[in-house]
Amino acid sequence: MRKRVLGQSGIEASVIGLGTWAIGGWMWGGVEANDSVRAIQAAIDAGINLIDTAPAYGLGLSEQIVGEAIRGRRDQVVLATKCGLQWHTAQGTLFLEQAGKPIYKFLGAASIRHEIEESLRRLGTSYIDLYQTHWQDDTTPIAETMGTLLDLKKEGKIRAIGASNAATPHLDAYRAAGQLDADQEKFNMLDRRAEDSLLPYAERHQLAFLAYSPMALGLLTGKMSPDRRFADDDLRSRSHRFTPEYRRQVLDVLARMQPMADDHEITLAQLALAWTAAVPGVSHVLAGSRNPAQATENAAAGAVKLSDHELATITALIDEFPA
Ligand SMILES: NC(=O)c1ccc[n+]([C@@H]2O[C@H](COP(=O)([O-])OP(=O)(O)OC[C@H]3O[C@@H](n4cnc5c(N)ncnc54)[C@H](OP(=O)(O)O)[C@@H]3O)[C@@H](O)[C@H]2O)c1
Repeated sequence: MRKRVLGQSGIEASVIGLGTWAIGGWMWGGVEANDSVRAIQAAIDAGINLIDTAPAYGLGLSEQIVGEAIRGRRDQVVLATKCGLQWHTAQGTLFLEQAGKPIYKFLGAASIRHEIEESLRRLGTSYIDLYQTHWQDDTTPIAETMGTLLDLKKEGKIRAIGASNAATPHLDAYRAAGQLDADQEKFNMLDRRAEDSLLPYAERHQLAFLAYSPMALGLLTGKMSPDRRFADDDLRSRSHRFTPEYRRQVLDVLARMQPMADDHEITLAQLALAWTAAVPGVSHVLAGSRNPAQATENAAAGAVKLSDHELATITALIDEFPA
């Protein structure tokens, strides 16, 4: 597994990271806790050290499961979690509801201090390697948020600071206030908006870029058959990208990438992850894995090297995906 440094932090994190949103169950049709713990342990066994979670993933459940899975192995893990989607106070902007609880985007100082203590407790650790603002909060100046994060860094509770779901003016404001090491944004073959400004920005300012949803929630794995049904509380049941017709069209394009995957003796999921990791500016790819088989398969993508010709061929095929 190749490793790359998180921004200027000196922290070396595996190019393929483990994403644990689905492990929280929320918006993914529930969770099988044993599978989740074994998925995390399989990922570490396969060379992944970067594990990304968040309090909002299942109202603390994902963090709790990660904490259980890494017990006794904390030193083998680069732990990334987040703040700013909170449910302990009705401050900030209402974002959405989870299990009947309103979740607010809020990055005020006292709230972050409350959130980090809860995260440390659930994760069973005394420090977070990468602490990221999950969504941006228009009600708190970024300088104030950054001030709190820099204080947490001085106190040894966090080692590096990241932002997520941010635009370049947000990133400018963070950087004006102190050292920002990472930006976490959606990026995959079907959603390449980050190429317009965020990826060049990350390269220019030495930020790690953590690509989230790199398999487009499983659509790019080639295993998403048109007849698969999703539970009502699985976000894919409501997505236009998961209609049987759309899935069929995606599978048609993926079939044309299959020969390249076959040449490398890899799966389409691994091809999608390897392509993502090779895009200029992308430093880390967060692959969501629900069970040990997915975790092991996804981790192995960290060893795949695609030639310039293969990357160009894939990029040309991507243009044929339906809008
Ligand atoms: N910062 C943010 O706002 C934000 C937002 C989204 C995600 N993220 C982070 O990014 C991580 C990854 O994104 P994601 O979980 O949204 O989506 P993803 O990685 O694109 O897709 C994950 C889903 O694809 C399926 N899958 C994974 N590996 C597979 C394989 N090898 N073969 C077949 N199917 C496979 C699994 O679902 P099934 O088994 O059900 O098919 C899995 O839950 C998250 O877990 C989270 O850590 C962050």
